[in-house]
Amino acid sequence: MKIIHAKDYEDMSRKAASIIAAQVILKPNCVLGLATGTTPIGTYQNLVEACKNGDCDFSEVSTYNLDEYRGLDHDDPQSYHFFMRDNLFDHVNIDLANTHVPDGSNPDAAAACAEYDKIVAEAGYTDLQLLGIGNNGHIGFNEPDDHFSAGTHCVDLTESTIQANSRLFEKEEDVPRQAYTMGTQTIMYSRMILVVANGEKKAQAVHDMCFGPIAPSCPASILQLHPNCVVVADDAALSMCEGLY
Ligand code: F6R
Repeated sequence: MKIIHAKDYEDMSRKAASIIAAQVILKPNCVLGLATGTTPIGTYQNLVEACKNGDCDFSEVSTYNLDEYRGLDHDDPQSYHFFMRDNLFDHVNIDLANTHVPDGSNPDAAAACAEYDKIVAEAGYTDLQLLGIGNNGHIGFNEPDDHFSAGTHCVDLTESTIQANSRLFEKEEDVPRQAYTMGTQTIMYSRMILVVANGEKKAQAVHDMCFGPIAPSCPASILQLHPNCVVVADDAALSMCEGLY
């Protein structure tokens, strides 16, 4: 694992966007794995700027998102479909037909997950997978468990994740209780992984991801086994890793 120290959120966002832009420059028709959540918003803003400046061309890029809430329509403002259009897709020259997010509007979980696995595999998996990390060490919606997950599956969100995500909903009861998520194995198939993390709330999870035992109680810890994983984290998120890297 390569750990890149960023001063603050803005610095983390610029550095992460530069790494993604370099991937797109090196391979214009690359397959990107994307994440939602608060952490990558600044990264996406920098990519939008890079696209406007002519430094990053998304016309041949295809994308596969990690996850989606179960039961939300694509146009629901809380859905990850909406988030991706709002934060990235509507502002860069990507062909929307080349963007993919698990279909949370399909109530048939088995069919929705099998279909997503099929299209990610047909794409040859991702060249670069962007990840945020949950306060509890989750990646995608792969929550702490007694085993690592494989392909796309439907998960019950933990109380900690429901609470953390409730800040984005009017009431905690509005947070969906289930999601479809790419599995840990699929994430590990990516040729490169880029984790972004900022803030004190992520310090324990970042420590456990990088230096804790490799165990499904911290799903992100499996990234220690990935041959090309880069973590870009700010001062606060790295505060428990001082002297370890
Ligand atoms: C989102 C996702 C989640 C988030 C994580 C951190 O697609 O897969 O694993 O990356 O919950 O979320 P934020 O960035 O909001 O702290």
